[in-house]
Amino acid sequence: MKVELRKWSLADKEGLTELCNAVDRTFLSDRLPNPYTDENADWWLNMVTKSEGIDGTFRAIVVDGKIVGSVSIERKADIYRLDGELGYMLLQDYWNRGLMSRAVGQVCEIALKELGLNRITANVFHPNLASQRVLLKNGFTQEGIMRNAAIKCENIYDILIFGLLK
Ligand SMILES: CC(C)(COP(=O)(O)OP(=O)(O)OC[C@H]1O[C@@H](n2cnc3c(N)ncnc32)[C@H](O)[C@@H]1OP(=O)(O)O)[C@@H](O)C(=O)NCCC(=O)NCCS
Repeated sequence: MKVELRKWSLADKEGLTELCNAVDRTFLSDRLPNPYTDENADWWLNMVTKSEGIDGTFRAIVVDGKIVGSVSIERKADIYRLDGELGYMLLQDYWNRGLMSRAVGQVCEIALKELGLNRITANVFHPNLASQRVLLKNGFTQEGIMRNAAIKCENIYDILIFGLLK
């Protein structure tokens, strides 16, 4: 199994669309369009190729040539501009092989250096234990809990706040 973490290019439209339409959305934000269209992919790939290395670090997780996941850190705005928000997703066939733990470690290192961030924040649904494990294994600390903060498929969830300092 050959695993690569690589920058996105405008040519990744098909791979990105397939990923976003196949990923398990149980614990993802509804900001990710559903269904995910070619237009959504065009918009996102344009945005990430422009902001890469300035306001974000965006990587595709590629296994044997197929895009199977995504991991991103995006600079926040205003007084929070030295903080970056981490987000990630991986196709279910590739879970529990350590892929995301390694990808998150690498992307955090790049973002802290290239974006000049002071910290990285990750918000996680309370029941998403695998995601919490990925963060803890990468040195994140649970800093707080926003009670009843999110609604997903008509269910209300607590959201855990994790942080990693430079
Ligand atoms: C969360 C997600 C990224 C994890 O990726 P992954 O590559 O499977 O993660 P890893 O294999 O690196 O690590 C997973 C860890 O969680 C553990 N784990 C998995 N399922 C678990 C569960 N139900 N309860 C407790 N721990 C669990 C694994 O044992 C592993 O820990 P270990 O290395 O100490 O054994 C992946 O499940 C995913 O993409 N889910 C859908 C989208 C999502 O939830 N994104 C996160 C939004 S914050």
